[in-house]
Amino acid sequence: MSTSKEDKWSAERYNSNASFVYSSAYTSPTLDLLSARPGERILDLGCGSGELTLSALLPAVQPNGSVVGFDASPDLLAKARTNAASSPLSNEATVPVTWIEGDGHDLEKSGEKEAFDAVFSNAALHWMKRDPAQVVRGVYGLLKPGGRFVGEMGGAMNMIGVRSVLHTVLGEYGVDAAAVDPWFFPTPAQYSAILQAAGFGVESCELIPRPTPLPESGLAGWLDTFAFAFLDALPATVDREQVKAEVCRRLEVDMKHGEQWTTMYVRLRFKARKE
Ligand code: BEZ
Repeated sequence: MSTSKEDKWSAERYNSNASFVYSSAYTSPTLDLLSARPGERILDLGCGSGELTLSALLPAVQPNGSVVGFDASPDLLAKARTNAASSPLSNEATVPVTWIEGDGHDLEKSGEKEAFDAVFSNAALHWMKRDPAQVVRGVYGLLKPGGRFVGEMGGAMNMIGVRSVLHTVLGEYGVDAAAVDPWFFPTPAQYSAILQAAGFGVESCELIPRPTPLPESGLAGWLDTFAFAFLDALPATVDREQVKAEVCRRLEVDMKHGEQWTTMYVRLRFKARKE
């Protein structure tokens, strides 16, 4: 499966500005909830550059299991393949790992049915905004009966402040930010309803506020890495650097303490089972 859209992701920016996304401190609660077991076949939906696929899922399903990393970005997947090539575990070849490029909305078209024991997703589902219910139905179709769907994504109030300032500043340049906003940050009630409508039993679904210190690149680095849909919507005559600086300036009062930028991530963490 391949997407023809231009790839706005940069593995280099993602790895240098946002490696906290796949840090064990932030991901271990969701990995514990998944509780991957030897011999299982697991799909990592929105695997990015594959750090968790390789460091957490692959070891957990050994021996005899397998892992599929799935992502829409060719650049992130290229980095995942490079990471896999230098990972001792994937080279031991007791557990195959494969990488698939695709849009999470197209899982139903993948041709695979009841093929996975679990689908895992970290920090990716909020990008699949066009039709989240379609994504969830696709996951449901891929799972074996009794299979688990376990994930963490941005939930309601995620990036509070940053998102509204992006909307306000873009509005000042005549851009309708709501029309280009790529993020879906549901409440537990909204996401539980989507899971249940697809046929899942919801075992847990909760919001976890998590203030997140940003690396040295600060909010400007975060915007470069993740806010491309907003910045790309600006007219060509507008200086993006100036817009980013203005967004940062307005947010400093809440988000910058000394030299340290901290952003308010609110995670929605869930576990659902195909009944
Ligand atoms: C998140 O992981 O919550 C997130 C990351 C980038 C943009 C928006 C949300």
